[in-house]
Amino acid sequence: MKKNILCIGAGYVGGPTMAVIADRCPDCKVTVVDINSERIAAWNSDNLPIFEPGLDEVVKRRRGKNLFYSTDIAGGIKAADIIFVSVNTPTKTFGAGAGKAADLQYLEKTARSIVEYADSDKIVVEKSTLPVRTAQAMSRILQSNTKNLNFPVLSNPEFLAEGTAISDLENPDRVLIGGMETPEGQAALNELVELYAQWVPRERIITTNLWSSELSKLVANALLAQRISSINSISALCEKTEANVYEVAAAAGRDSRIGPKFLHASIGFGGSCFKKDILNLVYLCEYYGLPEVAAYWEQVVKMNDFQARRFVQNMIGAMFNTVSAKKIAIFGFAFKANTGDTRESPACAVCHQLLEERAELSIYDPKALENAKIDLANAQGRINYCTSPYEAAKGAHAIAIMTEWNEFKELDYQRIFDNMEKPAFIFDGRNIVDHQYLYELGFNVYPIGKKSLVHV
Ligand code: NAD
Ligand code: UDX
Repeated sequence: MKKNILCIGAGYVGGPTMAVIADRCPDCKVTVVDINSERIAAWNSDNLPIFEPGLDEVVKRRRGKNLFYSTDIAGGIKAADIIFVSVNTPTKTFGAGAGKAADLQYLEKTARSIVEYADSDKIVVEKSTLPVRTAQAMSRILQSNTKNLNFPVLSNPEFLAEGTAISDLENPDRVLIGGMETPEGQAALNELVELYAQWVPRERIITTNLWSSELSKLVANALLAQRISSINSISALCEKTEANVYEVAAAAGRDSRIGPKFLHASIGFGGSCFKKDILNLVYLCEYYGLPEVAAYWEQVVKMNDFQARRFVQNMIGAMFNTVSAKKIAIFGFAFKANTGDTRESPACAVCHQLLEERAELSIYDPKALENAKIDLANAQGRINYCTSPYEAAKGAHAIAIMTEWNEFKELDYQRIFDNMEKPAFIFDGRNIVDHQYLYELGFNVYPIGKKSLVHV
């Protein structure tokens, strides 16, 4: 094998990313290690730990050939030429910066493991999303080794989105690699460029200094989330004025300087990245003495929280100011379609608020039910987990659509309507169903950012 590649962290990023590298670089041996032995066992089984379209096929093609999932972190480090670090970097929940700053304890542990186990030089690649200037701390820990070893650090943030991870990895808009502006740093950077160039066109491989690369990842996520909060803020105004947020987004997005993507009004953005990365940016701005810049970006998160709260308030208002003891069917719990991931899902916030109002919930999701059970394990109130949307809606006063699964567009809504309490309500947090058709069936229909269709 030409190169030994190791990835520390077998999560939503490390698992799929390394599978695609193994697939596209058959002359490299790729090993993914993790402290979580259950997760590694799942990666080695027929039931992978995450659902991602196309992932099973790639893993089946390469596993046992040049792709290995293992708990042997020490052995993996010793054998590696290039080490990707793809551990979780959640928001800190304690001490200084709690609620905003990134918790870098997992990252630091990996750096210390590399120092402990390595017995030759290695390129260390930051794949996790990190605060700008983390590579400086990484380098200092790595260079503290007493074995005279060199560990040039590169930043290579990952831009995949869940649900489309495999195609994003196989055909990325860009690959970003940042390196130290030293001969050693540039040599390491060129080595990583060569790896990606095996399947990514050269013009899509961007190289920058380390700090630009680290910061670009936070900025990309902040800009994407900002678009969603912007259009969601306008959805609130549309509901007051009978403007239609889809018409507004389409009209504004036709300007080539604005563009049509990521202007889909919704219940709000979820996922493990947007909120955490913006708060990380906010913390950095505060740390560097820029409170106005911090407040500007924090508003993106506040607007997102407002959108979920507003959705629940609209539900309660429409249902005669009480949902107490009313059964409400929750269609979808994942933070977006085509994933079982529920981290920061707006569905979770909505469910908690409805439970506080003493509603009874029946939740259906094609892939996220197990995660929903974990997320709501400590919630107070009555929750049923259903294996079909028909079961969830039976006897319900209302349906709340939380995730844009395609199957919700194709259900037999006549059958659903017939089995619901009347008047029957549908609150479409993703604007994915045919509102006029549902209204004609007899539903009272509440979209986001569009006029509600109500029988009087
Ligand atoms: P994850 O929680 O799914 O996976 C991280 C894995 O790292 C876990 O399995 C954990 O057990 C393991 N780990 C932690 N400490 C370890 C250690 N010391 N040694 C070995 N393994 C260790 O997280 P994720 O969603 O894959 O995200 C990883 C990073 O990538 C984060 O920084 C995230 O911000 C970033 N990112 C995520 C996405 C996404 O869509 N999920 C996209 C781009 C970037
Ligand atoms: C995001 C970034 O897109 C990706 O580049 C980065 O690497 C990780 O974070 P992800 O969180 O997996 O990816 O999914 P994404 O498609 O960005 O959706 C995030 C949330 O925004 C979802 O809840 C989605 O439903 C919501 N969304 C997205 C909207 O509400 N409206 C839109 O127009 C787009």
